[in-house]
Amino acid sequence: MSGQFEQFEKDIRGCEKCELSENRTQIVIGDGTPEADILFVGEAPGRQEDKKGRPFVGRAGKLLDELLGEIGLEREEVYITNIVLCRPPNNRDPKDEEIKACTDYLDRHIRIVDPEVIVPLGSFATSYILDKYDLDNGSISRVHGEVFSISNLKGRFKIIPQYHPAAALYNPDLKEVLKEDFEKVRENI
Ligand code: URA
Repeated sequence: MSGQFEQFEKDIRGCEKCELSENRTQIVIGDGTPEADILFVGEAPGRQEDKKGRPFVGRAGKLLDELLGEIGLEREEVYITNIVLCRPPNNRDPKDEEIKACTDYLDRHIRIVDPEVIVPLGSFATSYILDKYDLDNGSISRVHGEVFSISNLKGRFKIIPQYHPAAALYNPDLKEVLKEDFEKVRENI
């Protein structure tokens, strides 16, 4: 496991597969334990994450830590990564071609962590993950908090999409929705 992860980190180092490599300070691979049962997939590193080299360390990260705490989990017990591993300039949305260039890394994360539950955070991660497993790809406002059970050649696991925590920083009503939807994660581990 750790050998596999070290090789993965080596392969990612110096990646120039898309234009995000031009402005990043560093590649933000992920955080937590690769042995985790739960894999969280966010959108992209922001300014703090780019500076510190860890995902979700800014305001959205504080809220993610709080939501994890509410369901009895600490960040060290899960694994957290993003759909793109480098910061988009001025925190703009990742472009299709940037997501495409980076999904190979997310797929490798999924193979290495081999989680029981995948939790996509926000519309970009949700759309990619639901599509990857040929699931009904509705908008995040429709599929948030739903539990998708997968049983196929790739294994048995669940996918539980969530609103992105950053959305709740601008719309406090969403914080309550996130809390309720995170309960679904607790019920499925
Ligand atoms: N938002 C994300 O989607 N990922 C981060 O790492 C930080 C904020």
